[in-house]
Amino acid sequence: MTHRFYIGTTNQHKIREIGSILHATGCELIPTDKIDPEETEPDFVGNALIKARAYAVHAGGLTISEDSGLMVAALNNLPGPWSARFSDFEVHRDPWRLGAHHPSGLSRDEIDRKNNDLVLELMRGIEQPRRAAMFKVVMIVAAADGEILFKGENEAHGWIAPEMRGQNGFGYDPIFIGHNTFDRTYAELDRHRKDLISHRRKVLNDFQDWLGRFLRQP
Ligand code: IMP
Repeated sequence: MTHRFYIGTTNQHKIREIGSILHATGCELIPTDKIDPEETEPDFVGNALIKARAYAVHAGGLTISEDSGLMVAALNNLPGPWSARFSDFEVHRDPWRLGAHHPSGLSRDEIDRKNNDLVLELMRGIEQPRRAAMFKVVMIVAAADGEILFKGENEAHGWIAPEMRGQNGFGYDPIFIGHNTFDRTYAELDRHRKDLISHRRKVLNDFQDWLGRFLRQP
């Protein structure tokens, strides 16, 4: 039996990862129009809720959305919810915080590289164990009227590599070494391996548990 969900993102990397992890469960993802709701909250949950409601109401049916990013403890958990366009911000030290925003208009792939350069530069001189980091994800399923049916949060732990390595994946994958990846960055893993251990995999396991209960409802 096929379960159909709209997918509330236009990030093709996320769509591929979510689609591939959910494939075995018989879930089919239906693309949505790009609507770019403004992510105004200072946390992942707040932004995930904004996206979920906006996309579900626009699509007119059950919609999966997520907000995700990298948190680096030594940088006061930056880039955090600002992960996607981190290098468009000035960054202040003591304490680490975001400063002025200068929108660059760079494409997603172009800015990914600049984001990685910036994190590596900010982490220069910081040694283990202070290079600890995690990928965080909040996933939401919303109904056409905006009601939130599922909210899951999960993480993948690791640390920041000394330099960029690997060609696979997207975003911060070239600088993130998982605690269980034997010193390889996520971008050095083949995509099936990343899909087995990532934050997205873990939250989709929670989603599958919810889906089982949801489908059994009278
Ligand atoms: P969002 O579209 O606002 O949720 O942006 C998420 C951003 O976090 C992406 O653009 C990436 O920079 C980063 N990110 C999220 N998940 C991953 C991942 O699995 N690998 C690498 N970077 C990620």
